[in-house]
Amino acid sequence: MTAIDRPHAAFDTVVLAGDAVRMIDQRVLPDTETYVHAVTAEEVAHAIREMVVRGAPAIGIAAALGVAIEAGRLAADARDARALAQAVGPAIERLAATRPTAVNLFWALDRMRRVLSSASGTATTLATALRTEAQAIWEEDLRMCRAMGDHGAALLAPGCRLLTHCNAGGLATAGYGTALGVVRSAWRQGRLRSVLADETRPFLQGARLTAWELQKEAIPVTVITDNMAAWMMKTGEVDAVIVGADRVAANGDAANKIGTYGLALAAHAHGLPFYVAFPTSTLDLARPTGESIPIEERPAREVTHVGDKRLVPADVPVRNPAFDVTPASLITALVTERGVVRPPFGPGLQKLLAGS
Ligand code: MRU
Repeated sequence: MTAIDRPHAAFDTVVLAGDAVRMIDQRVLPDTETYVHAVTAEEVAHAIREMVVRGAPAIGIAAALGVAIEAGRLAADARDARALAQAVGPAIERLAATRPTAVNLFWALDRMRRVLSSASGTATTLATALRTEAQAIWEEDLRMCRAMGDHGAALLAPGCRLLTHCNAGGLATAGYGTALGVVRSAWRQGRLRSVLADETRPFLQGARLTAWELQKEAIPVTVITDNMAAWMMKTGEVDAVIVGADRVAANGDAANKIGTYGLALAAHAHGLPFYVAFPTSTLDLARPTGESIPIEERPAREVTHVGDKRLVPADVPVRNPAFDVTPASLITALVTERGVVRPPFGPGLQKLLAGS
């Protein structure tokens, strides 16, 4: 494992465990705490698609680790580094085809591709380099989340009551979380009073995952259904909203879990700050706005059923877009590991990345 101190000893979202990628099975939380061990890139791809592992940074990390174990598995049969690079290529394509919206997946795979394209020497040397790179992606994510948490916490007034959507926590990252990283830092600094977690239909990331990981750390969390959020704002039970992101365009438009856009509109109507927290690996500066961000449409069954129980009459069509895009105009500030960006976000993000 890593020299970095663990964010919370209680669970591993996605880690390298010998020749396997070990992932807590997020499909069955909070009832059951069990781990899936994937030993091929194909198994990791399946785990991403099936939501064993989810959340933008965690998907990227899982894919990178998937490439690393695939290379380790194929190294013995490869003549040299170049032959191994060729053999691993299809696995990268397979991993890239799992989920389209979170740019962290493509960012992480590009990093692994860069290592592959510099392949020389023995297959074992390349397999080791890929493993080192994947582990570096994991460690960087944890560092970024901690830094982001501290930057975000400084925005909050003491006694703040936050509302969040989906799960942008330790379960969506290497650990600590993005939006929940801010929650964790604010809690440790004594600034946070409580968290309202949107249930987040249809996959229930808020009810099942955010509530689970905050409860584990005794951070006060109350779950509400998604349609209660605007009313909670109206009745004065929310001081600020904080969410994560799956892809942020150059102008600050932010794709995140479906329902985020509605929440931003409601926050705006009530004069509440709306913060989006994400590592710079979530930035897609090649897209000038969020208009062209691909939005994943997930299986209808996630809407028609809860577990085995059917909620919608058979044969009635349903829609299941998994993400929406919140326009930059509704966002108060972007919180990254490099600092906080205020509008106008375009120049602010450029400046942030230039390091000034
Ligand atoms: O479909 P999911 O569960 O992968 O969607 C996750 C989200 O939308 C999160 O808010 C986002 O990835 C940020 S996670 C730090």
